[in-house]
Amino acid sequence: MAETRIVTIDGPAGVGKSTMAKQLARELEIPYLDTGAMFRAVAWKLGQDSWEWNESRLERALAGFEFALSGTGEDSVLSLDDTPIGDEIRTEQVGMWASNVATLPVVRTFLKKAQQSLGERFSLVAEGRDMGTVIFPDAPHKFFLDASVKERARRRFLQLKEAGRPADEAELREQIARRDHQDRNRAVAPLRPADDAVVIDTTSLNKAQVFEALLKGVRDA
Ligand code: C5P
Repeated sequence: MAETRIVTIDGPAGVGKSTMAKQLARELEIPYLDTGAMFRAVAWKLGQDSWEWNESRLERALAGFEFALSGTGEDSVLSLDDTPIGDEIRTEQVGMWASNVATLPVVRTFLKKAQQSLGERFSLVAEGRDMGTVIFPDAPHKFFLDASVKERARRRFLQLKEAGRPADEAELREQIARRDHQDRNRAVAPLRPADDAVVIDTTSLNKAQVFEALLKGVRDA
C-alpha cells in the first residue's frame, strides 16, 4: 500500500482549525479528520457523567464503537457506527463533555488507535489537540494555531450567529477559557505545540492570511 501523507493542525478551542483543515484538505484533495468530533461523538453517545464510570465499564462501551471516513475536503464525512456525526455534538456543552472524557487514558487509548488506523488508510489533514505530539509524531507537516481567548470567543460567536444559533459572547469566553485550562493541564496528551510544529498566532490574521501561511508551510517543507 502506498504511504499516506499526514498534515497535522493542533490548537485550542475556537481557533479556526476546522475551517482551515477543510480548506487545506480540499486544496490537497485528501480527507480531513476532525478528531474533536470523535471525542464529542464518544461523549455524546456514552452520555452525561460517563467520565465518572469505572475503566472496565468504559472499555466495554468503547469496544463496540467503530469510526469510518469517506470523501475529501469539506465533503469528508466522519461516521460513528455507520451514522454520520451530525450537528447535535456542536454545542459548548458537548464540547465540555468531550473535554471531560478526553482526560481519561482509556478513551484516549481507544481513539488513538482509531485515529492512527485512519491515518494508515488515508492521507489526511488531521486536526485536534495532540495530532503532532502524540498521534502522528512523524507527520512531515505540523501546524499549531493559536489566538487570544477574546478573539476565539468572538469568532465562535459570529459562527454561531451565522448558523442561526445566537449565543452570549461573554459566556462563550468563559466556557472557552475553562475548556482551554482543562485541555492544557491534563496529565495525558495535554494541548501543546510539537517541537517541530510551525506555530501561527492568528489573533490579528484573517482566514486568507492563515490559509496562505499553511499552504506555504506545506509547499516549502
Ligand atoms: O476541537 P473540539 O472543540 O471539537 O474538541 C472538543 C474537545 O475534545 C477538546 O476540548 C479536547 O478536550 C478534546 N480533544 C482532545 N484531543 C483531540 C481533539 C479534541 O483532547 N485531538
